[in-house]
Amino acid sequence: MEETKEIGAALEEFRELQSRYPDQAQQDKVNTQPIIVSRFYDAVTSFYEFGWGTSFHFAPRSSNRSLAASQRDQQEEIVKLLGLEAGMIAGDIGCGIGGPMLHIAKVSGARVAGVNISKHQIQRGRALVEKAGLEQSCEFIQANFLDLPFADNHFDAMYSIEAVCHSPDRVQAFGEVFRALKPGGKLVIFDWVLTELYDDGDPWHRDVRGRVEFANATPSLFTAQEQIDSIRQVGFEILCADDHARNSDPETPWYCSLESRDLSISSLARMPLGRFCTANVTRLLEWLRIAPPGASDAAKMLNIAADALVEAGRLGIFTPSFLVQARKPESVREP
Ligand SMILES: C[S@@+](CC[C@H](N)C(=O)[O-])C[C@H]1O[C@@H](n2cnc3c(N)ncnc32)[C@H](O)[C@@H]1O
Repeated sequence: MEETKEIGAALEEFRELQSRYPDQAQQDKVNTQPIIVSRFYDAVTSFYEFGWGTSFHFAPRSSNRSLAASQRDQQEEIVKLLGLEAGMIAGDIGCGIGGPMLHIAKVSGARVAGVNISKHQIQRGRALVEKAGLEQSCEFIQANFLDLPFADNHFDAMYSIEAVCHSPDRVQAFGEVFRALKPGGKLVIFDWVLTELYDDGDPWHRDVRGRVEFANATPSLFTAQEQIDSIRQVGFEILCADDHARNSDPETPWYCSLESRDLSISSLARMPLGRFCTANVTRLLEWLRIAPPGASDAAKMLNIAADALVEAGRLGIFTPSFLVQARKPESVREP
């Protein structure tokens, strides 16, 4: 399993592997992507935490709710959609440093096992769980979601927030989730997909998509329909599919946290001026050898990622919050 690396070395390896990725055969992509993702999160997790807190996902926004409150609303919606309650055990696929897992365990009373390929994030997440005193309800497991280390029919419910988009093979990822879920168990996925407005024949759309993919380590975005089809293909019944980001108020779209509209002190690090300051202060700190080598490069890459996401959001060609709620049938036909 992948070890952690310092920011500069991680970024260098990330870039080198990313540049080779498009020309690789599918099996090589499957083998390389977990390393790309690990290097990406080695490089950017401290910046994410600085700008986003402990939950690394978007959420539908309204003018009277902060990003953190909107994220908690979405996490509580997952609890409802899954029917999670005390006595149940849930799997969080691609759990980050555990912000969603901690909140979901707290409000539902269920136990949650979070799977993450990034050793760096797991180390950070375990410290947060200990601080919250939730060791009895939250567990981190370092594993690849393409090969889940759980017996068949292990979980009562499973969810994933903005993580399967990192997969070089979504069908394999959903197949593993299907296998690990009990018959009758529910799955909720919030994920990054291209909307029906995306036109692959439009060079501008393709360019924005390429920048979103490259700067976020999301190798090949699916359309919403491809996402639904691949979840159905592995055996799930689809209960609902919906672009949840559309529930944002028009004046606070999902990407407003990356623009100048989401004014609060804590949001500064995500906004253009804050990002500019972060990149420059980081460069100075790096020069003074206070920040680790590569930190300003990582900040720069995150600025590219944020700008591409805002552009994709304004064009309406992309959503980070495509919701699919699905169920594993009670009786599963043998293949
Ligand atoms: C954008 S973050 C979202 C994290 C978390 N769901 C949240 O909302 O805070 C994506 C997560 O997926 C994890 N991930 C990506 N590829 C993975 C893989 N192949 N196996 C397990 N975890 C993976 C990353 O390490 C990261 O923690």
